[in-house]
Amino acid sequence: MNFENIHIDPLEKKWIYVSLAIAGLFVSILLIDSLFHGIDAPSNVETIDSARLHLSKEFAEDNLGVQVDTNGDITIRMVAGRYTFFPKHITVPADTRLTFRWASMDVLHGVHMPMTNMSTMIVPGYVSEVTTIFPKPGKYPLLCNEYCGLGHDHMWSNVVVVAKEHWQAPAKTQPAGDTNDG
Ligand code: CUA
Repeated sequence: MNFENIHIDPLEKKWIYVSLAIAGLFVSILLIDSLFHGIDAPSNVETIDSARLHLSKEFAEDNLGVQVDTNGDITIRMVAGRYTFFPKHITVPADTRLTFRWASMDVLHGVHMPMTNMSTMIVPGYVSEVTTIFPKPGKYPLLCNEYCGLGHDHMWSNVVVVAKEHWQAPAKTQPAGDTNDG
């Protein structure tokens, strides 16, 4: 088949170029966000039994919140459920690598912190993980951004980002590498 012989109306040709340009624009936005703004698609694949979170080691109630492990790594564990995130308030240091881990106890939720690069879905049955650094101290809302029911609009937690030197590590520590196995 010879493509040279296909007749394309000039107007149609123009719109083919316009649509290719739009697709190209979107791909460049994705590339710029990923390469320069630290915005990547969440890639953590880890399963968990959402109905038994209270029995899991990691997402049991007294294990939620901010923890520093023996390597000095900071992990924040939260449970999303209609209609709140547990815990409701967390305080974390600025300019520090933070690993957030979420599990849903019921339906699909999302989590989004405006003005930061943090946003992910929280799918029941999976652990969502985001590693990020908040450069600016301040008070940030942590919002649910997936419609999860009538109380969706009221589902949020508060994140306070304080300067590194003013942040106090929570008293309890956890051995590195604790998992959901067993
Ligand atoms: Cu949870 Cu919307």
